[in-house]
Amino acid sequence: MPIVNRFHDLAEEITSWRRDLHENPELLYDVNRTAGVVADKLTGFGLDEVVTGLGKTGVVGVIKGRDTGSGKVIALRADMDALPILEKTGKPWASKAPGKMHACGHDGHTAMLLGASQYLAETRNFDGTVIVVFQPAEEGGAGAKAMIDDGLLTRFGIQRVFGMHNMPGLPVGMFALRPGSLMAAADRFTVSIEGLGGHAARPHVSHDPIVAGSAIVAAAQTVVSRNADPLEAAVLSVTMFHAGTADNIIPETAELRGTVRTLSDEMRDLVEERFSAIVSQVGAAYGVKASLKYSRDYPVTANDEAEAAFAGDIAAKVVGEANVDRDVVPTMGGEDFSFMLNERPGAFIFAGVGEDVANLHNDAYDFNDELIPVGCSYWTTLVETALPRTT
Ligand code: NI
Repeated sequence: MPIVNRFHDLAEEITSWRRDLHENPELLYDVNRTAGVVADKLTGFGLDEVVTGLGKTGVVGVIKGRDTGSGKVIALRADMDALPILEKTGKPWASKAPGKMHACGHDGHTAMLLGASQYLAETRNFDGTVIVVFQPAEEGGAGAKAMIDDGLLTRFGIQRVFGMHNMPGLPVGMFALRPGSLMAAADRFTVSIEGLGGHAARPHVSHDPIVAGSAIVAAAQTVVSRNADPLEAAVLSVTMFHAGTADNIIPETAELRGTVRTLSDEMRDLVEERFSAIVSQVGAAYGVKASLKYSRDYPVTANDEAEAAFAGDIAAKVVGEANVDRDVVPTMGGEDFSFMLNERPGAFIFAGVGEDVANLHNDAYDFNDELIPVGCSYWTTLVETALPRTT
């Protein structure tokens, strides 16, 4: 089955929605305009129920099939938020809000799920219930978790969850996923070092937090190189080192910050444990007080094995088996759909958005509208396959 015909007809209109969202980017939970547009459209499509304000600004739509006897309920999820980047695409539909930009294609994700919602509400050719989820704050705000905490999964009886992200570098008409870990757990840390400041010419009566911090940065490199299994992925990057005010003063304190990425819970535990030991004990060796504040942000995005096979089959129905990579190399980026996959079986899939498209989070990125009919077809094929009518 190639592209669902209806989406050839709807593509132009869905593209205009996408470009409108692109012109009006909003950050984190402040997606009030976007959520309003989404809720109005869903209501206009004649959905059975439209709920706003879930997880602060999330929107949920309920679409019942012609039959509901199966009792099956599946959720399709899109994200609505943009990024704090100054857009440089020069496109006619470029951001009208300087410093905010849809540089991750969430405008496209939202538009595609709206298109699929319209089709599903028109045809209802399935047995069960589809929940369409439009979440805020994917970019670092854990909007998916906020919606779950607000009762998303239990209130609507969601049994399975599916998500999609566009992928630059992969041609339009190709999909990629894998069973198990697809994207990394993304954690943040702050190391606070308290030494004893003094005159730079009298280091023997100070406890230099810069030298101690440098030793911690160097020793931290051994967590991945010496403690982690070389066949398992882990990243520990110190990305900020702040200390000092003048060239003749040994400062009192220093602060390091950075990120840890891992693909399994075991590796995540190991990195935190080893890093914590290094911070306190290297600090002690240099006569300073060093403490680690480690914050576990997004979990590993792990696809259920059976659901990944199912999602791969759906992609193959739309674009052909040859165009589906079912064992793609995981990425060390994070994704908060992971919170949903931790609660329900499901699968997250990458959809090719073209080889000439700039990287995600780049100021030259723009979602490629050619993906719209492909992505919409994936959603509706998934629904009609997961919730087949038997009568
Ligand atoms: Ni994204």
